[in-house]
Amino acid sequence: VAFPTETVYGLGADATNTSAVRGIYSAKGRPSDNPLIVHIADLDMLDSLKASMPQTAAFSEAMQRYDTLISKFWPGPLTLLFPRPDGVLSDLVTAGLDTVGLRMPGTALARSLIKLAARPIAAPSANSSTKPSPTLASHVYDDLAGKIEYILDGGACGVGVESTVVDGLSSPPVVLRPGGVSIEEIRECAGWEGVVVGYKDESQVGKEAPRAPGMKYKHYSPDARVVLFEAGVPLDISPEAEQRGSVGVVSTTSWRPPYQIASHPSSVPEAEEIIHVEGSSESETKLVFSKVGEGRIWVQLGCTSEQVATGLFAALRGMDRLGVRTVFVEGVSDGGAGAAVMNRLRKAASVVVKS
Ligand code: TXA
Ligand code: MG
Repeated sequence: VAFPTETVYGLGADATNTSAVRGIYSAKGRPSDNPLIVHIADLDMLDSLKASMPQTAAFSEAMQRYDTLISKFWPGPLTLLFPRPDGVLSDLVTAGLDTVGLRMPGTALARSLIKLAARPIAAPSANSSTKPSPTLASHVYDDLAGKIEYILDGGACGVGVESTVVDGLSSPPVVLRPGGVSIEEIRECAGWEGVVVGYKDESQVGKEAPRAPGMKYKHYSPDARVVLFEAGVPLDISPEAEQRGSVGVVSTTSWRPPYQIASHPSSVPEAEEIIHVEGSSESETKLVFSKVGEGRIWVQLGCTSEQVATGLFAALRGMDRLGVRTVFVEGVSDGGAGAAVMNRLRKAASVVVKS
């Protein structure tokens, strides 16, 4: 069952049932060495899982530090690594690791589903492996129709990028994947001042194995070729890109579509033509795809990193639906929500243009 969370849609299955969990891997085409996040409804569920974890001194110390994060960020876009509980979860969930990532999702729909199932729910993002994560029910349908049983439609996801994955069992604690909770917010919590970055944004090919196994795969890629411009680099559309076919532009803080007059920012933009992506996407995400020239499509995500995160995956998927062959994306600075946005974009991009 696919269900909405505040980050992205998840594809859920009973985490205690191996054949159910196997269904997740096969529907997504996901490599079996990439472990799944286990979702819980409430702190009672956490306590019952904790009861099956090895009760060492190091464990209680780590749990004390986790309490600070849990009270501040759960329910929310934060996944924490715990020792794998003994004999509870299917081995497929943890893919051979001795840890499990747990998260209490922010939407009432997700928590109700877990509560009604009365068991922990394993759920990766509900996209086909390598595609951008789904932030609308229609994205899930596009990727997984015919392969899964149900999609619960809760509208557009608010955060838009996946949860932050934190390993607080190691010393110092490590952020394994940037996400909806920023490292700056974590660092402000008592006992978390020393948290370090444990992910790399560059392609991992040929480098040391990443500790969050999912971070080594090609990811988040639309069919279109993605050309990412680092924040502050002006847009430059190459003739080669125009020769390949239709060009898309995704703008954030500075790039402005040609129909908007810079000196009159309040003037009503006159698009040559506003085209709508089929389905309900454009009304739910409030993204407007405009045709700004022959074979050129423009979408503006908003100015803050949070707004960019919310619309990012829907913009990339929308460009594919419109038949765009090359998409130029304006990056944002790496602070706050920008770290997750740039991490996903650097993975999706074939080319990164620096200043
Ligand atoms: O926001 C989210 O986290 C969404 C929603 C549905 O909750 N889920 C999600 O799951 O993004 P997925 O499977 O697409 O990404 C999970 C990431 C992968 O990079 C995986 O390798 C890592 O978390 N991960 C899971 N369990 C782990 C573990 N025990 N140790 C290290 N990394 C782990
Ligand atoms: Mg995923």
